[in-house]
Amino acid sequence: MNQIFNGFYKKTPQERLEILHKLGWSKIRLDLTDETGLEEVQSIDDIQLPNLVADQMIENYVFNYQLPLGVAVNFIVNDIPYSVPMAVEEPSVIAAASNGAKKVGNIKAKMLKRETIGQIVLPNVEKPMLIQDIINSNEQELMEIAKAASENMVKRGGGPRKIWTQTFEGDSGAFVTTYISFDPCEAMGANALNTVLENVAPRIATLTDHEPLMSILSNYATEAIVTARCEIPIISLDKDAMLAEEIAHNIALASEYAQIDPYRATTHNKGIMNGIDAVLIATGNDWRAVEAGVHAYASRSGVYRGLSKWKIDHSTNELVGEIELPLQLATVGGTISVHPTAQWALDLLHQPTANELAEIVASVGLAQNFAAIRALVTEGIQKGHMALQARSLALQVGADLTEVDEVVKKLRESGIMNSTKAKEILSLLRGK
Ligand code: HMG
Repeated sequence: MNQIFNGFYKKTPQERLEILHKLGWSKIRLDLTDETGLEEVQSIDDIQLPNLVADQMIENYVFNYQLPLGVAVNFIVNDIPYSVPMAVEEPSVIAAASNGAKKVGNIKAKMLKRETIGQIVLPNVEKPMLIQDIINSNEQELMEIAKAASENMVKRGGGPRKIWTQTFEGDSGAFVTTYISFDPCEAMGANALNTVLENVAPRIATLTDHEPLMSILSNYATEAIVTARCEIPIISLDKDAMLAEEIAHNIALASEYAQIDPYRATTHNKGIMNGIDAVLIATGNDWRAVEAGVHAYASRSGVYRGLSKWKIDHSTNELVGEIELPLQLATVGGTISVHPTAQWALDLLHQPTANELAEIVASVGLAQNFAAIRALVTEGIQKGHMALQARSLALQVGADLTEVDEVVKKLRESGIMNSTKAKEILSLLRGK
């Protein structure tokens, strides 16, 4: 499978789409004239967001903002090959993801559980233990209200799962919070859970004689944890066995360091989110929610730490990478159901369940992280990243499409990647 994608990046966008179509992963056909009518096909226009739909999605709509959409190749997650859709503006992210995926091989990923948590907050509570007792002893009734408020989700096999309470001491006094965990099936569950919370809150107010401050889901998705793991034979890291050992050792050191210095951990995690956000945007998922949850999770020990860990397993001579993060994703509802590009992106991923999507996304984060730290501890980030940045630089200084290739070539030859050099090359090219 991997061989089909060798040199994928050297092909034209049309050739790439043809490959994906031939694999049956994308319905887009560029040449619709020889259609037999036996297969369902789409044109690129079919997957653009129509203005009329966009106008319904947000307020004060004027027109669509566009981002480049690319495909990261070489992924194998739980033994299934994937090409991963990524919407991203930054050069080298998709190259790095494809590179990382090629080098890490099969990634074993698992979504441990998938529930959304919501909270109903009571402020200024004088007797928090008593209020907690009242809520806890009425748990059954509150659960019935929650189920009635999410009938459709319950019919699908989801709905409220658990109710519990906690007291927090603030400057103004105690807050008593009622938490409800909720299985949203294939949706993210934000609307369904918020409805449940707003239906349960009035009963809590009556039972406790306290008016809730707010009822809202939490994006700290601790009940939606995904893990991904890969095992890379150290020998595969370089042709030179000594160098391969050194690379593995340094990747493990970089990982260790990301656990202890928050300055490094932040950048380490930014590299992971480069890939994750790009897939979330392509599939129409709420990347702000995931970002908030992921960074809170990275701080759960009280110190902000790297989300992934790389260790050498001396018994197998492998470099073992692991990532663990909260991913409350959806494959239906909200933007996903109405955005035709998000639908195409899910097609490309073989229409995964929400659990499978989270497993793919966690795997992208792990491969992305591997590529970034491998580059950092070997040749440095600038060589690969800036080489790919050259095209953006050329466009930035005003090169037109007939000039870009030449400016990129000369920038790479010069070894200097900045806009002053790009401007100088363009002026020379234009004979100025
Ligand atoms: P390379 O070693 O020259 O690649 O990497 P290769 O020639 O060995 O090719 C291996 C595979 O990579 C290819 O397989 C492609 O799949 C892919 P093939 O097709 O040959 O069978 N690949 C490409 N895909 C698309 N376009 C390309 C391309 N080149 C290779 N041009 C590479 C070159 C840039 C990939 C490597 O240096 C790399 O992975 N660098 C990391 C870059 C990176 O992480 N960029 C993200 C932005 S930097 C950042 O924001 C995050 C950071 O701060 C995070 C952190 O600090 O942890 C770094």
